[in-house]
Amino acid sequence: MRAVDIIAKKRDNILLSDEELKGFLESYLSGETTDYQMSAFLMAVYLNGLSEHELKTLTQTMRDSGELIKLNGVERFLIDKHSTGGVGDKTSIALAPLLSVFGIGTAKMSGKGLGHTGGTLDKFEAIPGFKFPATEEDMVKTIEHTGIGIMGQTENVVPLDKKLYALRDVTATVSSYPLIASSIMSKKLAVRSDGIILDVKVGDGAFMKNLADAQKLANIMRGIGEMFGRKVHIVLSGMEQPLGDGIGNGLEVYEAIESLKGNGPKDFEKLITTITGIALVQKGDVSSIEEGVKLAEEKLHTGEAVKALRDFVEDCGGDPSYIENPEKFLTATYTLDVKAEQDGYIASLMAEKVGNSAMLLGAGRETKEDEIDHAVGIVLKKKVGDKVSKGDTLAIMHYNQKNQKLEDAIALLSGAYGYSDSLVKTPEVILDIQ
Ligand code: URA
Repeated sequence: MRAVDIIAKKRDNILLSDEELKGFLESYLSGETTDYQMSAFLMAVYLNGLSEHELKTLTQTMRDSGELIKLNGVERFLIDKHSTGGVGDKTSIALAPLLSVFGIGTAKMSGKGLGHTGGTLDKFEAIPGFKFPATEEDMVKTIEHTGIGIMGQTENVVPLDKKLYALRDVTATVSSYPLIASSIMSKKLAVRSDGIILDVKVGDGAFMKNLADAQKLANIMRGIGEMFGRKVHIVLSGMEQPLGDGIGNGLEVYEAIESLKGNGPKDFEKLITTITGIALVQKGDVSSIEEGVKLAEEKLHTGEAVKALRDFVEDCGGDPSYIENPEKFLTATYTLDVKAEQDGYIASLMAEKVGNSAMLLGAGRETKEDEIDHAVGIVLKKKVGDKVSKGDTLAIMHYNQKNQKLEDAIALLSGAYGYSDSLVKTPEVILDIQ
């Protein structure tokens, strides 16, 4: 069938057969179908959606468009934890070592960050010498030795998603539930795992701004996982305010290590112990998430997880002394306290503004080409629900350059805080588990 006929069918909401959709997608990957034809098709999908069967065909065709990471020879139970991205989200850095303590391996690909949310790759690269395993073979070695398998994204895995995503980005078709769900799940399904845990962030600093939208996306993603026979759990977690206290690459690795020693922020601990509890259910070690969380809490501060992280960093060429002495991450030339402008309770702390403020200091990229500064960022001292008096320190900025961007970053961070005269409840980090 001609490309124009496929587009017309989708425009008119007529179901596409497996062969039609697969053939159309493959002809786009080979260059036969043009960008302008695919743009029209994506807009038709955006407006009319996809049937369950079409969604499966799209996901499967994307998954099979490149290499599959099979991790042959790995015997551990493998979890792929994926976050939809948020401010201060250093979850993988602490979670993967904690899972390893329970004999659970992690298998995931991670990339660089763009915009106000950071990438796990950038965070680990705050450690001198660190390079993610570049090949499947190297990843198998780190999983076998340390339980931690995180690899950099490669061009060869799910190339169709990369091509489609770039087009969606410039045709206003990113924010479509079936397109987001199939894009994320095709990447999860391309890597071997026994269980998938999706941490869908909800709120100001996230892709999904409210719980109902996030639940809708979560349901579609779980449905796709189940169509492919994977165990999938979805955690909906709050992103109205940043996760934890540190925002910025080195500062986030610092916080992840401190959390594994018992010195972490409560919201961050809650998230990593909850996800570990779910992983233990998926593995079959416990029969309820609560039971799993209890075991995770007992192991969180024993130091075993820090040892796994240290070994992983060393295997990846990084300097392990940074894990042993995490204060080595605190290298920004200057610090500055941002103070409360009035008495009251912190009623809001807008995650996106905090993320953008850290980006102005150099912690994130505005464009793909930007270099990041691993030392800079923000440490929050007050968060939603805290009582403050005028002049109290709300946050500490770590920075290396005194320029206009610093002034803008200070203004943005001050403006991220909202106050109330009456008591404000500390928000829950876990909003729902599905
Ligand atoms: N993240 C993805 O990987 N794909 C999307 O479509 C949106 C967010």
